[in-house]
Amino acid sequence: MASANRYLGLIDKYRAVLPVSDSTRLISIGEGNTPLIKLENIPALIGKNVDIYVKYEGLNPTGSFKDRGMTMAVTKAVEEGSKAIICASTGNTSASAAAYAARAGIKAFVLIPEGKIALGKLAQAMMHGAEIIQIKGNFDHGMQLVKEVAEHAPVTIVNSINPYRIQGQKTAAYEIAEALGKVPDYHCLPVGNAGNITAHWLGYTEMGKTSGEHPTMVGYQAAGAAPFLKGEMIDDPETVATAIRIGRPQSWDQAWGAQKESGGWFDLLSDEEILAAQKLLSEQEGIFCEPASAASVGGAIRDIKNGKIPEGSTIVCTLTGHGLKDPDTAISQCAVNPKAIDASLDAVKAAILDKL
Ligand code: F0G
Repeated sequence: MASANRYLGLIDKYRAVLPVSDSTRLISIGEGNTPLIKLENIPALIGKNVDIYVKYEGLNPTGSFKDRGMTMAVTKAVEEGSKAIICASTGNTSASAAAYAARAGIKAFVLIPEGKIALGKLAQAMMHGAEIIQIKGNFDHGMQLVKEVAEHAPVTIVNSINPYRIQGQKTAAYEIAEALGKVPDYHCLPVGNAGNITAHWLGYTEMGKTSGEHPTMVGYQAAGAAPFLKGEMIDDPETVATAIRIGRPQSWDQAWGAQKESGGWFDLLSDEEILAAQKLLSEQEGIFCEPASAASVGGAIRDIKNGKIPEGSTIVCTLTGHGLKDPDTAISQCAVNPKAIDASLDAVKAAILDKL
């Protein structure tokens, strides 16, 4: 018998604010309920009196925040009788779509940019049995094609232009407010297609309807893929953080709305700054996220140091994906190549004493 307080996924928990009925079959793999972890060492390192929390979305079932929206989108697709879903993706959406389609017993088609998705994400889409379509183009080309093909084939788009994705994803804001007992002063996120910042803002504004309280929303982009900083769409996005290698964000207007209404801002980080933040989190806090995710922490640290985010603030940074998604990038930035030694006590003792 199931125990009364078994966690059944975020739709079950937040059904009061989500578009489901009692008879809806929930397509869930136990997503959501991710930890909000207070950073202990980094605030001391930067010498500022701030509370920084990371929302570790890499601990969702497929290792990224995408599962929040995907459980909702696939649940509704199945409810509406769809037999196939489709998405364009820089990797995480494809992994999530593939997993939830497998769970639901429907087909997933995923369009990915050839050679530009992290290895772990590709492995996931393959293992879950998605139909993988590699295109000689980037995410933006894939997105355009998906929109066109969905007009001609019986497939449901599960990119964040699907409104159910945003609904499911907004639950992250609810969880944060619940864990903190209040909304944070600042919420920092990496921005690519801009669905996540849109969804968080939706969640915060729903919750703040009576109190009027909400965080200041801050979006960080990679320097080579920063249309929000340029103020217009760009054609050839490029960054080591392949998850956010996007030049034509679909939720363009909604993200500007979140920025303006919350009094927030957008900023950019170089690839070097993104990787440095990823390493810092790994080395100082024991938290491994993928490069795109680290843009939130790297950007927040810079804005704390320069005073844009004042001392005394409570800050939440979303870590959108797990570090294991992209082992190649992680290994390539670690200088030390572990050398093999004899399997003897003397050799191992010498190796340890050498490092103490
Ligand atoms: N971080 C990670 C790890 C992502 O995978 C994405 C988006 C983002 C941040 C940006 O979020 O698009 O809502 O602004 N990945 C999408 C994908 C585009 O296809 O997996 P966003």
